[in-house]
Amino acid sequence: MSAHGDPIPMTAHRSGPLTGEAHVPGDKSISHRSLILGAMTVGETKVTGLLEGQDVLDTAKAMQAFGAQIEKRDDTWHVHGVGVGGFLEPENVIDCGNSGTGVRLIMGAMATSAITATFTGDASLNKRPMARVTDPLALFGAKAYGRTGGRLPMTIVGARDPMPVRYTTPVPSAQVKSAVLLAGLNAPGETVVIEREATRDHSERMLAGFGANIRTEDSPEGRVITLQGRPEFKPQTIVVPRDPSSAAFPVCAALITEGSDVLVPNIGLNPTRAGLFFTLQDMGADLVFENMREEGGEPVADLRARFSPDLKGIEVPAERAASMIDEYPILSVVAAFGEGKTHMPGVKELRVKESDRIDAMARGLRGAGLLVDEGEDWWTVHGLGHGNVPGGFTAQTFLDHRIAMSFLILGMASTKPMSVDDGQPIATSFPIFESLMGALGARIERT
Ligand code: S3P
Repeated sequence: MSAHGDPIPMTAHRSGPLTGEAHVPGDKSISHRSLILGAMTVGETKVTGLLEGQDVLDTAKAMQAFGAQIEKRDDTWHVHGVGVGGFLEPENVIDCGNSGTGVRLIMGAMATSAITATFTGDASLNKRPMARVTDPLALFGAKAYGRTGGRLPMTIVGARDPMPVRYTTPVPSAQVKSAVLLAGLNAPGETVVIEREATRDHSERMLAGFGANIRTEDSPEGRVITLQGRPEFKPQTIVVPRDPSSAAFPVCAALITEGSDVLVPNIGLNPTRAGLFFTLQDMGADLVFENMREEGGEPVADLRARFSPDLKGIEVPAERAASMIDEYPILSVVAAFGEGKTHMPGVKELRVKESDRIDAMARGLRGAGLLVDEGEDWWTVHGLGHGNVPGGFTAQTFLDHRIAMSFLILGMASTKPMSVDDGQPIATSFPIFESLMGALGARIERT
């Protein structure tokens, strides 16, 4: 569903110590995948801890349009799927709202069935590149008819007799990898995806969980993922872990807000996702992983973040980019409160997220009194140190939830308040952001 209604301007004021526990919502990536794989499985898949953000609700609606039955009873989502290759042709246009993950994974999942579907999204999604997904889907035999530059709205005509493919992803993207794997489910034989850099592996883990024959090998070419098509899926009971990308916001807020001590329990620390936390430690953050354990095959810990007055700017390793790609906006806020330069190379993909995130953050940070340098695939924030970030600016959020949350967190520790023109997109991934941050002691208001 596209964002409707008037924009919601919001302002964050300098906040007292943040204290207490922050129970962040379920992982967005894993939530999308549970609904899509549940919809491709005959029988009842049960999901708890699902993120009930707009992005995931839009994916649930889309799966219903393809024939799955999905309902929530008590705290559990029940998905009755149609089986691999069993999707019905939707009667209407599929609106994926703000969600690149939703639309790209669903295109992959339907591309090897003999059905046609048309996809659209909001103003942000309809600007984003889809050729990265439709190029490999064409190798299976699917056809795509979109706007100039491979943009939505777009119609996909699924392949009647799909061929398995071998595909090397040209950009580090879990969405592209996952779209190809989901398409490969209904192709006979082995579909192979090769990625030069490891991206989040939730699809591989969950496909194996549903009973697919899938293996990953490291080779000189990169990670080689081989999936056997036409598996017999068995319905699953899935407990979605809490989202490290959402945990990043209360964690970073605590690090820059005087006197804070915040516990963020039960956060998945899958190595393909946890890069931000190691980067923060490299900057001198007082951030510890407590109660390290394993749950559902994933490393999990409680994160304890305390106010860290002596953060230092660092060189963020380019090879870490994929494991923290959604966290650069909030990292740049922490960098503003550190001493010295934080240089972030190898991040071209930030230019094609919900917004051009380098541009959106650079504009707002400059407005808040920071010096920011940027190139096509890198940027540098010149930190001013704790207590020296002026703030006092209204940042444009460009329909991007992570830009909105990042600037509100900046305002909790800047000298003057910080505003955003529209906080509405926050509901796509973190619908309880305002109340959760408020309960910790943040002063955020709708203006
Ligand atoms: C996601 C992959 C990443 C990430 C997005 C979620 C996923 O996108 O930025 O928020 O769930 O697969 P890319 O695949 O474009 O890197």
